[in-house]
Amino acid sequence: FTVLVLNGPNLNMLGKREPTIYGKQGLTEIIAELGLKAEKMHIELKHLQSNAEHELIDAIHNGYQQVDFIIINPAAFTHTSVAIRDALLSVDIPFIEVHLSNVHAREDFRKHSYLSDVATGVICGFGAQGYTFALEAAHRYLNKGK
Ligand code: DQA
Repeated sequence: FTVLVLNGPNLNMLGKREPTIYGKQGLTEIIAELGLKAEKMHIELKHLQSNAEHELIDAIHNGYQQVDFIIINPAAFTHTSVAIRDALLSVDIPFIEVHLSNVHAREDFRKHSYLSDVATGVICGFGAQGYTFALEAAHRYLNKGK
């Protein structure tokens, strides 16, 4: 199986960016660790971080019939992007929405997501571990018929 991990704007700044909220680990390290876990599950992991909405949308489109599952932290686009929602619906690939922080314990504008109601599941508040939980959930989801 192939799993695509997408990270939205400002997540390239993880480690430096508001570390009390988002943790001290950088994205490169998080994804490298996730890649090792994926390997053990015989999952091919692809990753893109982008600060540009259209690049995330293009990556979702390119996953059509190529990618079995998407793990996405849309970052601020969570709260703004009908376009990313529509892209995910257009390819009909199951996905998990991940947030490092507990978005429900923060500003009101973070409580609404354009993706949650069409996601297979949502993980938030567990820091970088959330990506691991999502990978495990994706693995189970993909192997459930076997
Ligand atoms: C985030 C939460 C979003 O509200 C915020 O805009 C981010 C990161 C998280 O991982 O906690 O950039 O998605």
